Amino acid sequence: MFSNRRGMVAPGERKLRLLSLLLLGLWGGAACHGTAVDDVCTAKPRDIPVNPMCIYRAPEKRATEPGGLEKEKRVPEATNRRVWELSRANSHFATTFYQHLADSKKDDDNIFLSPLSISTAFAMTKLGACNDTLKQLMEVFKFNTISEKTSDQIHFFFAKLNCRLYRKANLSSHLVSANRLFGDKSLTFNETYQDISEVVYGAKLQPLDFKENAEKSRVTINNWVANKTEGRITNVIPPDAINELTVLVLVNTIYFKGLWKSKFSPENTKQEKFYKGDDKSCSVSMMYQEGKFRYRRVAEGTQVLELPFKGDDITMVLILPKPEKNLAKVEQELTPELLQEWLDSLEEMMLVAHVPRFRVEDSFSLKEHLQDMGLVDLFNPEKSHLPGIVAEGRNDLYVSDAFHKAFLEVNEEGSEASASTAIMIAGRSLNPNRVTFRANRPFLVLIREVTLNTIVFMGRIANPCGN
Ligand SMILES: *[C@@H]1O[C@H](CO)[C@@H](O)[C@H](O)[C@H]1NC(C)=O
Ligand SMILES: *[C@@H]1O[C@H](CO)[C@@H](O)[C@H](O)[C@H]1NC(C)=O
Ligand SMILES: *[C@@H]1O[C@H](CO)[C@@H](O)[C@H](O)[C@H]1NC(C)=O
Ligand SMILES: *[C@@H]1O[C@H](CO)[C@@H](O)[C@H](O)[C@H]1NC(C)=O
Repeated sequence: MFSNRRGMVAPGERKLRLLSLLLLGLWGGAACHGTAVDDVCTAKPRDIPVNPMCIYRAPEKRATEPGGLEKEKRVPEATNRRVWELSRANSHFATTFYQHLADSKKDDDNIFLSPLSISTAFAMTKLGACNDTLKQLMEVFKFNTISEKTSDQIHFFFAKLNCRLYRKANLSSHLVSANRLFGDKSLTFNETYQDISEVVYGAKLQPLDFKENAEKSRVTINNWVANKTEGRITNVIPPDAINELTVLVLVNTIYFKGLWKSKFSPENTKQEKFYKGDDKSCSVSMMYQEGKFRYRRVAEGTQVLELPFKGDDITMVLILPKPEKNLAKVEQELTPELLQEWLDSLEEMMLVAHVPRFRVEDSFSLKEHLQDMGLVDLFNPEKSHLPGIVAEGRNDLYVSDAFHKAFLEVNEEGSEASASTAIMIAGRSLNPNRVTFRANRPFLVLIREVTLNTIVFMGRIANPCGN
């Protein structure tokens, strides 16, 4: 295929090579098959060719934990320490990025994203990066907190992490990731880069004609995304985002569909007021159930509730400040360490949960936020250093933009009925001492993998009323 098309382009034929990077995190939609490469999950490091063009070395040996306190944390059972560290690095990035994003949004805007999708896509970019471009990727995505001295192994650990996350063939909840590279057909892409992308990330390279047929290429990519999401997400790439200077579009999609371990009964759903951040209220379908859940009232009356999906490996965590406290305040104070502390402190108890039924969609460009966080060179045509992607080490590539789109839908069951589920609907209890969790004001939501504590999705529901 592609890799054989050597020498098809004269060097210098075009001045700038744009690399568009597209990221999508999706939740909802029905799942399809997992198509991960079989070997990756059992492979040893030496079995996988994961040597990127440039190797990052930490400037000096130092305790790399930004918080310092976390160092003693136990690695979960049957887990490679590095995989766990990578997961932690990703979660660290997640909270930091979220704060940057939240700062730029209005208090009453919904936010939803898949930080894992973003980390994955940029790890794929890191494969071809050198010098300061590489260094900044390592720092901003916290990959430099992994105790391995060199970065070349990160891709191997990503492969292992993906195995942990996506290989749970439990049909009750689907977490599916699909990656693909779309490259301009006139270029020869580095074979090593292609190989690693495919083996580690399952991202095959598909040639497209960006130069002559930018619009058609855009439609092709959008159709691919639509196909991977059962038609739920269409027209992801906006018109004009791809043009004749585009060289490569890198797509990562993640989507998840889970059935609640304990469903909400539709008969118990009632219209209720939701108090939005701006002192206005709107009417929302509030679901209700009473049952045993992991829960804790943490600092300053903030309530944390964890609702498991069937299979128990993936959960949704809701973080609800007390009515007098602004959610923005909680967001600003949220560190990865604090979040971990909260999650560790949860205890199972009987409670009453009122959770709105909602659907949110969010899309934004990542560029500005990542630049704010220090990922500068990658987006700069003069400074970007990505010699590992196109053959012969061409060094005129940069990332022109990076888009992210994510979608979340929460309802009583999440999907078609699964009759065998334990349903713990007990009607409205009269016990006055019951713990009540009533999400009738803005709250944070996380969807995480439990054992590794990987934050797959994260967001703020400030207005679930929709339109
Ligand atoms: C990148 O690093 C290499 C080796 O350290 C050096 O030779 C080269 O000049 C650097 N390139 C840029 C663009 O800084
Ligand atoms: C996606 O593509 C596959 C293979 O071309 C096809 O079989 C399937 O029906 C498509 N699904 C949707 C939802 O378009
Ligand atoms: C699938 O889910 C069921 C319960 O919903 C659980 O008992 C079982 O262990 C899970 N299987 C795997 C492979 O995780
Ligand atoms: C492709 O990248 C590898 C390093 O990842 C490098 O050794 C090789 O020379 C590159 N090939 C070409 C044709 O540029």
